[in-house]
Amino acid sequence: MEQKQDKLKEIISHAKEYGFVFPSSEIYDGLAATYDYGQLGAELKNNIKQYWWKSMTQMHQNIVGLDASIFMHPTTWKASGHVDAFNDPLIDNKDSKKRYRADVLLEEHMEKINKKIIKEITKAKKRFGEKFDETEFRKTNPNVLRNQGKINDIEASMKKSLEENDLEALRNLIVDLEISCPISGSKNWTEVRQFNLMFSTEMGSVAGDASTIYLRPETAQGIFVNFLNVQKSGRMKIPFGIAQIGKAFRNEIIARQFIFRMREFEQMEMQFFVPPGEELKWYDYWKTQREKWHKNLNLGEDLHRFHDHIKLAHYANAACDIEFDFPMGFKELEGIHSRTDFDLKQHEKHSGKKLSYFDPERNESYVPYVIETSIGLDRMFLAVLSASFTKENLENNASRTVLKIPAPLAPVKVAILPLVKKDGLPEVANELANKLKFDYNFQIDIKDSIGKRYRRQDAIGTPICITIDHQTKTDHTVTIRFRDSMKQERVSMDHIEMILNEQLGWKNLLTKLA
Ligand code: GAP
Repeated sequence: MEQKQDKLKEIISHAKEYGFVFPSSEIYDGLAATYDYGQLGAELKNNIKQYWWKSMTQMHQNIVGLDASIFMHPTTWKASGHVDAFNDPLIDNKDSKKRYRADVLLEEHMEKINKKIIKEITKAKKRFGEKFDETEFRKTNPNVLRNQGKINDIEASMKKSLEENDLEALRNLIVDLEISCPISGSKNWTEVRQFNLMFSTEMGSVAGDASTIYLRPETAQGIFVNFLNVQKSGRMKIPFGIAQIGKAFRNEIIARQFIFRMREFEQMEMQFFVPPGEELKWYDYWKTQREKWHKNLNLGEDLHRFHDHIKLAHYANAACDIEFDFPMGFKELEGIHSRTDFDLKQHEKHSGKKLSYFDPERNESYVPYVIETSIGLDRMFLAVLSASFTKENLENNASRTVLKIPAPLAPVKVAILPLVKKDGLPEVANELANKLKFDYNFQIDIKDSIGKRYRRQDAIGTPICITIDHQTKTDHTVTIRFRDSMKQERVSMDHIEMILNEQLGWKNLLTKLA
């Protein structure tokens, strides 16, 4: 764990040093849980957006995009349930004065018990070798059974108290399990209280409640209120989806772990409208699709897992997270929710407007059910960055830090390196750059030895370096060097665009999703 925390620290400092992520308003000592994306971060973020946007809208004929405003009519949030129910159960430790989410404290406690189970299994695996049967072991080993029983009991009690909003029972559970504050080590807890996570502000000059509006805590509601606008103007037939990328705001209490949990963040959400009764079929479909989207990036083996929700949100009849193995351990990266017809029905009720769809195949009108896929762009950024961050030992006691970012997502795609600053080589570099600039973000780097320049490009994840030397002038060839394998090939300049297209283009990546 300590090693993983060190990795997070290294990533944070690398991200700052190379212009990926800066603390927000740093000259004023920063603002908690807000970050700015620098010159390379903005590129990487845009590329992740493109991968998502293209996979949703270009790869699905029945999914279209939307860009709704951040401010919405205040009744939106009453209808969606956010005014009354978008709360976190919070508990304070009286000694450290630190505030925690009560459910997170319990989940972390269960994870500790789970680790004991895993330790037991790893030990047994070593002892029994090939013959080891994990399922059987889980069913029969007394220690595993005892610990699994404990987890099941805690899970059941937690679920019950959360569902019944029984905050006293939640606190008692924490006290009974003797959970202590990670900072003070004490078990001196306050009561559990509910805290609404929406930021509010005033619109216009009229004082009073009527002018209070909220910064949207999710982008989804902009999609729901535009459901009929899009369906009618786009002559969309159910099933169809609306995709949106945009900022969301939450007054997170425990905002920490870099860009993992921020107060201002970006979501990529897609609401898929389906006939009532078909929602669970589509829920499974989107689970498979989204898993495929993640794995298609080849960030590494065993980095993703599904986690079914214990406590379903007020709008869902099935929900799960795709978790990613971040430097802090497995955490939620994306949510997939079967939201029923809750949102559309609520908006019908509060607006007095009909939001139903006439289905020509069924010859009936209904309010559609909705499957939602919702991924945090910043979390996806951290997933890509942390999985790509690699330190390698090379020959001659040398080493390199390399970001093995999937090539189509890399902020700089090509580095053009004239061997020397004279003999017409920079001119050849400029000529090449003028050809490539329409398709690829590039850098021309002239300073220092080629080795040093390769290291600089490795550190920002540039997949391809092209070196121009004196031979280029005579036979029109260059050296192409590939980031991950460090292999070098002498190729004709006429082939460069073809090679780049193959290595860097979206087509290869997206084809595997089709
Ligand atoms: N519309 C559904 C919804 O908003 P959510 O699980 O609350 O569901 C969806 O959020 C995704 O948004 C999460 O899986 C996560 O990736 C991202 N997210 C949520 N809160 C965040 C925060 N404070 N900072 C960064 N990303 C966040």
